[in-house]
Amino acid sequence: MSQIAYVNGAYVPMRHAAISINDRGFQFGDSIYEVWPVRGGQLRDSEGHFARMQRSLNEIRVPAPMDERALNLVIKETMRRNKVRDGIVYIQISRGVAPRDHTFPTKPTKPTLIITAKNLDQAGMRKRGAEGVKVITTPEIRWARRDIKSVNLLPNILQRQAAKEAGAFEAWFVDADGFITEGTSSNAWIVDAQGRLRTRPLSNDILHGVTRASVLKVAQERQMQVIEEPFTLAEAKAAREAFVTGAGAPIFPVVAIDDTPVGEGKPGPVTQALRAAYLGA
Ligand code: PDD
Repeated sequence: MSQIAYVNGAYVPMRHAAISINDRGFQFGDSIYEVWPVRGGQLRDSEGHFARMQRSLNEIRVPAPMDERALNLVIKETMRRNKVRDGIVYIQISRGVAPRDHTFPTKPTKPTLIITAKNLDQAGMRKRGAEGVKVITTPEIRWARRDIKSVNLLPNILQRQAAKEAGAFEAWFVDADGFITEGTSSNAWIVDAQGRLRTRPLSNDILHGVTRASVLKVAQERQMQVIEEPFTLAEAKAAREAFVTGAGAPIFPVVAIDDTPVGEGKPGPVTQALRAAYLGA
């Protein structure tokens, strides 16, 4: 089946989907994106993703290309045309097309909007969820506004590739003080030595993960002990359990960090209970 993309008002076969070489997203990374998980044909945590998308747009001062209701319809239609049941929806919005100049275009410029949707390999997702994944660590080399879901992902992709080459699923960034910030495309969690669920608090240092918020809610509803506090690499290695959360990683247990086994080196009971609760929620 040929994939269909939505590009600036039209549904087009992927091989014909194109934008201008003068698009500011292409020229400067002057662009933001959003990723919704799709489960059973439904968008998961839809409002959280719309809210974060709007926040990213506000932060880079790009107007929304259409209102949320209209965008929701276009997303649903893109899912329908691509027969997406379990996967992701991807949206990218750039400042638009203009002759290359670092400052914003002076003439009114329409933002570029593209949407794609695809199914993800469910067997692979289940396997990672059940068996866990390895992570490597790497110095935090990104900019200071990681709360904006910008398409400038060069540090993320370089470190994610390093993880792949090391046989790991994810790379965790470690800040100058030795604390884990987050993964290249997921948030980082541990069950610390005291048995508390622990994840870094929201700030400009990390992306405000929508899955993170959802998992926090599920944990609190189940009266699990949760603290939003940074943890060091040493604490992560000494943790009872660890896991990652993201639209493409709905609680994957972390069984090794830099080849040091976490806990018993297999998915732990707290992570498994939380994963079951989150997936069932
Ligand atoms: N990434 N941190 C970073 C740096 C991310 O890129 C992501 C998501 C997350 C988790 O956020 P959420 O739970 O809202 O998906 C944390 C998406 C999936 C991506 O880049 O494809």
